[in-house]
Amino acid sequence: PENLVKKAKKLCAYAAVDSNLDLSKHRIIGIGSGSTVVYVAERVGQLPNKDRLVCIPTGFQSKQLILANGLNLGSIEEYPEIDIDFDGADEIDSELNCIKGGGACLLLEKLVADCSKQFILVADDRKNTGILGKHWTQGVPIEVVPSAYTKISRQLTVLGGKPTVRPGAPAKAGPVITDNGNFIIDCDFGEIPSNKLQALNDKIVAMVGVVETGLFVHMAEKAYIGNSDGTVTIVG
Ligand code: A5P
Repeated sequence: PENLVKKAKKLCAYAAVDSNLDLSKHRIIGIGSGSTVVYVAERVGQLPNKDRLVCIPTGFQSKQLILANGLNLGSIEEYPEIDIDFDGADEIDSELNCIKGGGACLLLEKLVADCSKQFILVADDRKNTGILGKHWTQGVPIEVVPSAYTKISRQLTVLGGKPTVRPGAPAKAGPVITDNGNFIIDCDFGEIPSNKLQALNDKIVAMVGVVETGLFVHMAEKAYIGNSDGTVTIVG
């Protein structure tokens, strides 16, 4: 099964690049984070005209992927207008809303997606859950300023969530520290119907000390889902 999942990730990533990346109109490319995007970077790196592209990373791992595949590295500060962005997801619902942040890169991922004209998801079929909150049992990842984590945890509980500060163990004693020096709170809200997502996101973002949430509401235009039988389902 491990091998089938890997194959599914590669298939959907290659399909997403092959059918969406058009060098006559795309120059600035967002490269997301996670294990599926590894194959996006690999495919983009195989393009004969890859020198014409500038790739914008969504975190440390993403930056390494861009460099390892011989691609030009740019920054979001230099290029706040991105033509197309490819990224993974932890869960995708039937309206292409998604939960991200399993790799703790949600802030830059959301910034890059927000700056992109086109945002394309790539994921294996375990992520295609129909409704958010089903599979990602840890909940919605929320990036918070370290000194605010206790206060925010209390506010999330009042909102009906079950918050947990993401541990760094076994690699580190204490919490995970993001690429931006913050903590991640994973907050379980159970299943979240799509018509409640925007309001929930807005309430969380309004809490002082919250930097961003892993709820990506109405941002993606298409999802390429890799199935274990070797097919790719395109949503959107
Ligand atoms: C990183 O913070 C996440 O949003 C990733 O994009 C997400 O976890 C997808 O990872 P996989 O491609 O490994 O499933």
